[in-house]
Parts: sequence; C-alpha cells; structure tokens
Amino acid sequence: MSIPTLPRVFSGVQPSGLPHIGNYLGAFRNYLAMQEGHDAIYCIVDYHALTSTHDAERIRQNGYEMAVGLLALGLDPERAVLFRQSDRPEHAELAYLLSTVVPVSWVERTPSFKEKKRTQPDDINHALLTYPVLQTADIGIYHARYVPVGRDQAAHLELAREIIRAWNSRYGDVFVEPEAVFTDSPLIKGTDGATKMSKSVGNTIDIFAPEDVIRKQIMSMVTDTQRILRTDPGRPEVCNVCQLHRFFGDDFETIWEGERTARTGCVDTKRLLADRILAFFAEARERRLEIESRPGYVEEVLRAGAERLAPLAAETMREVRHRMGLGSR
Ligand code: TRP
Repeated sequence: MSIPTLPRVFSGVQPSGLPHIGNYLGAFRNYLAMQEGHDAIYCIVDYHALTSTHDAERIRQNGYEMAVGLLALGLDPERAVLFRQSDRPEHAELAYLLSTVVPVSWVERTPSFKEKKRTQPDDINHALLTYPVLQTADIGIYHARYVPVGRDQAAHLELAREIIRAWNSRYGDVFVEPEAVFTDSPLIKGTDGATKMSKSVGNTIDIFAPEDVIRKQIMSMVTDTQRILRTDPGRPEVCNVCQLHRFFGDDFETIWEGERTARTGCVDTKRLLADRILAFFAEARERRLEIESRPGYVEEVLRAGAERLAPLAAETMREVRHRMGLGSR
C-alpha cells in the first residue's frame, strides 16, 4: 500500500519588504488557497535578490518583512512550509548543474533579462543571466507540479519547463514539468496606472503601512485620464481604481455604473476603495503586530521550514549527482 500524497506546490517571492496588494492579488491569494489539499512550499528568494540588491542588511530585513507579511496574511506554517532560499544552499548547486543543459541564447532572450539591461544598465551581472535557471532549480528540487505566480512570471515558467525537459532528455526523467497557476486578476498596475505595481517603482498600495499612508496612496491614484470634469462620464474599463474595486466587494458593477453616469466622482470612488481595502486587510494588519511582538518567532518558522525540506533536497541532489556522473559510484 502506498501512502497517498498531495500535489506539490512551490513558489518563491523576492525579499522586497512588507507585501503590497499587487503581491496579494497576483499570487498570494493562491498561496493561501493552495495550502489546502496541497503540499505547499513557499520560499523567500534571497539568492535571486542579490542580482539587484547589494546591501546585505536590506536583503535580510526585507526578507524578514516579507515573511512577516505572508504569515500575517494567513500562511500557516503548520500546513505549508515557509523558508529562506539561502538556508537550503542545494538550490545554488542545482542551478549550476541545470545550467549545463541551458543554451546561452535561451537566457539572453528572456524578457526579464532584456528589461534589466534597460533598467540597471550599469549592473548587468552574470547572475541576472542565470536568474531563470536558479528559479528552475527552486521548483525542480522539490518536484513541484504547481507554481502559483503573478502573470509577469509566465515567461520564466515557460523557460523552466524547457530547461527541465532538456535535463530530463539528457539524463532521464527525474524532474516534474511545472505548471504556472495564475489568479483571476490581470497584471496589477500601480498607483500611476501605467506600470506593474512594484516597490522598486514606488507605485504600491501597501497592506501594512499606517492607515493614513494607505489612504494617501489610494487618493493619489491615476484614474481615467480623459475624465477631466466631475460631470464627465468615467470609463471604468480603463480606470485602475474601478478595476481594483472588482476584488474588494461584490458590487463593483454598481460602482462602475456610478462612474459611467457621473453620479459619482473619482474622489468618492477612491475613498470607498480605501475603506474597503482597509477593512479587507484589518485582520492581517492586527496579526502582523502580534507576529512582530514575538521575538524570534519568524526566524524560528524559517529555520524549521528549511529543516523540514532537508531530506527532500538531499534526495534530489543525490539522484541528480549520480545521473550526471558526479561523486563516487
Ligand atoms: N522570479 C520570481 C518573482 O520575481 C520569484 C521566484 C524565484 C520564483 N524562484 C521561484 C517564483 C520559483 C516561483 C517559483 O516573482
């Protein structure tokens, strides 16, 4: 008789400090949902962060804050594993081994690499090129099948599948081909209404900031730029505020109608959104304070998470090293 196993889930998130609503709507909703009925593993990817951040204290602090945020949002360390990538250095070894099957052209044409060439032209380091290979190692080492991520990660997941196919065809079927799992939200735009919500751009709506900060962020949002006068009809399809209302209440149709008919103005709709977002995350905000008041708790969760994964990682590495001809017979 075999022991029934749950489908394995893996995802990684950059240590970028306390999470914002883009993190939540894009991926974390699925992190939380997939704790049920799955064997879920979530990772703070600090090795990946080194490709763009060179301040050691910031990496550490931002990783801690991301972990706090995930726990506050409802990640339950009794059900899912939460750990820090660098606490399982096998990820780095596996990335190296996988890189031997990856043609340079595959990683050179990765959209995120091309984007980095534009956004950090003075720091095109080699680890940027190999970023998706490390991401493949993260997933592959635990044989994860499902990978909840934001839509911006689609290309990385496609590449991960290709890398795994390439390795498997050279050395045998060890790795599982992973599948991206997206939420029902499109790519979440920031308060500028123009680019992906991200801390580095500075266009976030935060979850854990003080209430007045969150209200200010929402009140500063760019709406329908063609709606000039209060009496002009609004276009909810292109208004980022209206789009966000979809996820924080079940009456967005009514709100949209108010905009279309100019019964409501942008300011009303923003105020309502701020109230709803604050109410939606009230419990998580409370829990965060509680978590932060327990010295050593988060560190202990991360340590225990990494420890729980040790046998799995060791088993994969043993098999991979053996098949690649490394170590003794
Ligand atoms: N690249 C992902 C991001 O920026 C983070 C990540 C690293 C990841 N390793 C992963 C996501 C493995 C899913 C699976 O969001």
